Amino acid sequence: MDVYMEDRHVGRLIIHEKSSLFIYSKDWIAHGFPITPSMPLNVREHYAVGVHGIFTDTTPDSWGRKLIQRFQGGYISEQDYILRVSDQLRLGALRFSLDGGMTYEGKGKGVPSVSSLTHFKLLVDAMMRGEGHDYSELVSNVSLGGARAKLVVCDDDKMYLAKIPQITDNHDVEGLEYICLELAASVGINTTKSMLYGSEGKQTLLLERFDRHEDSRIHYMSAMTLMGLKDGESCTYVELALEVADKVSSHCLQELYKRMLLNILVGNTDDHLKNHGFLYIGGRWQLSPAFDITMSKRPYGANHALRINGCEPDTFDTALDVAEYFSLDNIDAQSIMIEMAGKAQKVLLGNATCKKIIKKQRVVDYVFINEIKATAMQQEL
Ligand SMILES: Nc1ncnc2c1ncn2[C@@H]1O[C@H](COP(=O)(O)OP(=O)(O)OP(=O)(O)O)[C@@H](O)[C@H]1O
Ligand SMILES: [Mg+2]
Repeated sequence: MDVYMEDRHVGRLIIHEKSSLFIYSKDWIAHGFPITPSMPLNVREHYAVGVHGIFTDTTPDSWGRKLIQRFQGGYISEQDYILRVSDQLRLGALRFSLDGGMTYEGKGKGVPSVSSLTHFKLLVDAMMRGEGHDYSELVSNVSLGGARAKLVVCDDDKMYLAKIPQITDNHDVEGLEYICLELAASVGINTTKSMLYGSEGKQTLLLERFDRHEDSRIHYMSAMTLMGLKDGESCTYVELALEVADKVSSHCLQELYKRMLLNILVGNTDDHLKNHGFLYIGGRWQLSPAFDITMSKRPYGANHALRINGCEPDTFDTALDVAEYFSLDNIDAQSIMIEMAGKAQKVLLGNATCKKIIKKQRVVDYVFINEIKATAMQQEL
């Protein structure tokens, strides 16, 4: 298949059963950029075991794959997953063609409007209950990764990722994610515009797509691809910071440190390598806005998907010990922690929407845990 970015030919991808080969086009070598740091332009042909991460980043994870499998049945190859995703909705800027760029694979059925979310929520519920139904509308919308039910919708020509509450949820998952994003923004972490849609307690979280800007697409790479790892493999925040400093930019390190601290503060242990990503903007890579941050009641110090250094427990103490890897001295790291703990309480109790979610969904347990963490942290320092 041929690979394009917007309408420019990037190269040719040949997927075999167990390996793949990507060959940059001559034009892209002359005028383009490495589509991921591990695929420099001075090497024309790039082999991979399986499929190169930069291409699998455009495919769905368990939610979307489940839908495609149900719809298509039989064996579905990685190439099928790449080509099945709607071209219009696909994450990032890569596009795929089987006819030399005359048409792009992934026909899709357009982008439904926000007002159709109620309809789609009923479909998702039916799918979760295992009911037989025509799910083709959901299948044609499959695009972004992740395990939870999701959809891409539009409003006023803007594309949104809609994260839909599931009938199996025993708490307001979307509400908690909304709170975490508010918290992140309040401590200066770059986030995307988010809002809750629908009736209280069963609200869908709408997130503005950060890989689209007006009519253009922005190239995306997951931290998993940056690290050269595959699903099920992991590393530590320290290793990620070293790779970011080397291959992305040391300007991202403080922001990454803040995200790590926030994940510790709210107990977001699901901070795996596909929950961190990068956008290629203005000729360089930078961290994408933060996403998929949620609270958990796991005890303070519980292991995160991305361990801090892999040796000590994932606590603020350990975070302080590794500050130098993020271009921070101990004093700066401490002041970021104190500021974050202070702001957490203010945001959680000072924002009307957050307060409502906290009251209604008995998030009080989470807040209480956070309060203890914040106090413990201040005493430690
Ligand atoms: N605002 C956004 N704009 C564009 N892409 C996004 C946005 N937010 C998330 N994504 C992409 O969509 C994917 C799925 O989103 P998200 O991680 O929030 O879903 P999830 O189902 O909760 O994931 P998980 O399986 O990690 O729990 C992300 O891995 C990221 O690549
Ligand atoms: Mg995720």
